[in-house]
Amino acid sequence: MELERFSWSWKFAEGHVEGDEKAVRKGAVGVDIPHNAVMLPYNCFDDRSYRRDFSYWKEFDITLEEGKKAILYFEAFMVQADIYVNGEKRGHYWSLYFPVKIDVTSFLKPGKNLIYLHLDAEEDPHIPPFGGAIDYLTYAGIYRPVHLEIVESCHIEAVRAIARQDGTVSVNVETSEEGGTLIYEIHDEKGLVVSSDKPDFKVDDVHVWDIKDPYLYELRVYLRKDGHEDMKSTKIGFRDIAWDKDGFRLNGKTIKLIGLNRHQAYAHMGYAVAPYLEELDAWKLKKEAGVNVVRTSHYMDSVSFLDECDRLGLLVIDEVPGWQFVSKDPEWRENYYLMVEKLAKETFNHPSVIAHGVRIDESLDDHELYTKGNGICRVIDPSRPTLGVRNITKSELLEDVYAYNDFYGEKNNKKPIARPKKVVGKKGKAYLVTEHNGHMNPTKPTDPYEQLISHARGHEGKINGAYEVKGVSGAIGWCFADYNTHPTFGSGDMVCAHGVFDMYRNPKPAAYVYAAQQEDFPVFELLTPMKTGEFKEAMYNEIPIATNCDYFELFKDGKKVGRFEPKGRKGGMPHPIYYLTEIIGDSLSDPRFKGKDKKRMASVLSDAAINGYMHLSFKSLLKAGLLILKYHLDYPELLGLYNKEISSWGGDGRGTTFEFVAYKDGKEFARRTFAPTRSLDYLLDCPKDELVNGNTYDAVPLTVKAVDNNGTHMRVANRVVEISVEGPVEVVGPDKLPLLGGYATFYVRSLSKAGEATVNLKIDRKTLTKVLKVK
Ligand code: GAL
Repeated sequence: MELERFSWSWKFAEGHVEGDEKAVRKGAVGVDIPHNAVMLPYNCFDDRSYRRDFSYWKEFDITLEEGKKAILYFEAFMVQADIYVNGEKRGHYWSLYFPVKIDVTSFLKPGKNLIYLHLDAEEDPHIPPFGGAIDYLTYAGIYRPVHLEIVESCHIEAVRAIARQDGTVSVNVETSEEGGTLIYEIHDEKGLVVSSDKPDFKVDDVHVWDIKDPYLYELRVYLRKDGHEDMKSTKIGFRDIAWDKDGFRLNGKTIKLIGLNRHQAYAHMGYAVAPYLEELDAWKLKKEAGVNVVRTSHYMDSVSFLDECDRLGLLVIDEVPGWQFVSKDPEWRENYYLMVEKLAKETFNHPSVIAHGVRIDESLDDHELYTKGNGICRVIDPSRPTLGVRNITKSELLEDVYAYNDFYGEKNNKKPIARPKKVVGKKGKAYLVTEHNGHMNPTKPTDPYEQLISHARGHEGKINGAYEVKGVSGAIGWCFADYNTHPTFGSGDMVCAHGVFDMYRNPKPAAYVYAAQQEDFPVFELLTPMKTGEFKEAMYNEIPIATNCDYFELFKDGKKVGRFEPKGRKGGMPHPIYYLTEIIGDSLSDPRFKGKDKKRMASVLSDAAINGYMHLSFKSLLKAGLLILKYHLDYPELLGLYNKEISSWGGDGRGTTFEFVAYKDGKEFARRTFAPTRSLDYLLDCPKDELVNGNTYDAVPLTVKAVDNNGTHMRVANRVVEISVEGPVEVVGPDKLPLLGGYATFYVRSLSKAGEATVNLKIDRKTLTKVLKVK
């Protein structure tokens, strides 16, 4: 059991006065955990603003019953802290990305108690990931929830279970004291399935955990001693993983791993977000980007995120904290070993985790460090492969999986993904591409479409390579969402615009290329707004469409142009970008042209619209010549034809209406209209209606998307959006934002009272309203 709502009602102050933790109290404010010590703007700030001292404390009432213990449990704080209980120093702890559990029993007194943290958020060269420059920020604060657990004096400290596809389960339990008896139980949603007094037992007719059907059981372990009982439970999934030169297999079936790297940071709030926002990232990756794997670069993600990956069937590759730098400092190296141990232990029960990344991301070889690191990991968790991410070829392979950040492919991207043998130096090794694109093609949400499309194509090339190149288990792109970084990275504005989503988790076109590769939900997205003036020489260019549809139909000004069937590449990705080059087809309205001539004229005009009349293909030139001679067409007539059939770049000023209708399994699932923009409209997205308070507050993003009167996303729209709230909620971060790539996202969190809240978003003279219930 834990003390209720322990993450609520803390006090926070800037700074710390050594030996006098009371001195800072004057400037104190009330905060709830997760808490970000320094709220940051979207970009252009000084990263040193949060690398300093802070104080957190909490007063609470507790009177421990005889024989009980109190465990203070921080899910994570950044970076390290001296922790005091009732004025007495309990110890010094680093957390970074790992939980800190402290037995505070002997420091507590009956009644009022005070816990105080002197948090030091400076980058410490004795602890990974620090020592060199790193391409991400480590925002200060107690940034994940905190708990006070009340347990029996003899209690279970950890439960680690290996559950296999054949229903066998093997449980390892750590207890605070020797002795007592242990009982193991497996429950499903209907109740008890199996009970055992032995740690190795079997569930008959087990429901296997899989990415399509991520079924979870609950494992309960009871410890009985001297008339007392302690219980610890954890979710588990029965599944088998195997990884070798032929790829990655889940329950015996090969899965091509297509995924994205995730940094857990959010705009403004940094690392300190409500558990729901962590879950939402997992949801976005699986249900919006449609990927099957995420790499938690470059550290261990929160329990909220990992739990949601288990529930969704999103595979995870975790990783020790670090970035290129390996220190010779013995303290740093000891801390690295401890981190490997923590990583292997803390992620053990998550069926979604398929490998532990034990090598510091992109570091050079270090025989001693990685021999020991791999050893520690394998002893704690023999059920999973170790994996090591490098950006160098032919380095010493001490892990089970050679992971490579393949930014260059082979021979300057001639082969978009390098062949494993060339990278590893030997044949027959399990091989995965863990990063691609990223800094090779940074793309801001506000960039022109030409760049947004180039970004989408960059990711497409690597995904396709992962299918085409033999021996590649998959490819994980850099990265899920844009992130804040140190000044020597990114665009000089403290942002690496490497995400296929922006920092607020709104999609760039590249996100749809990922989404189109799966079959669980239909996708049909034009990667262009069909506005010729957006592109060089005012041409449509080949029209890129990310889709997994069976076919789509195109209508121009109400007349059918044709039916189109995007196809996969043999041996390649299932759904490459489809390029539409025919936008007139059957819709050609000039009655003079019939039969073959109608087709010819339509294709010449399409070619002119797509590629420009200065760049007609040889075939189009021949067709045009033939038609000119046969129909005695002169230049004004040709121009008139073009303007009539495709009214772009001026024309007669009326513009063209294109309508796309996409089908899958015989059903229409998407209809997209592109026509001249006459007005702006705004769509409001809010993924839930209720905020549920528990140990901590809840939060939700509210996103305004600018669309025109045809529903076309207006990335270039330029407006300011303002948010205001009434009732038991609060805006976290700015309450006024410009549209960024056609989106503005705000975050609203619950306050401690229950009730109804209203959120108003004002843009132009319009107000969008959302009612939220706080429970
Ligand atoms: C890699 C690194 C990532 C990120 C990326 C940018 O070298 O592992 O953390 O910096 O480059 O493309």
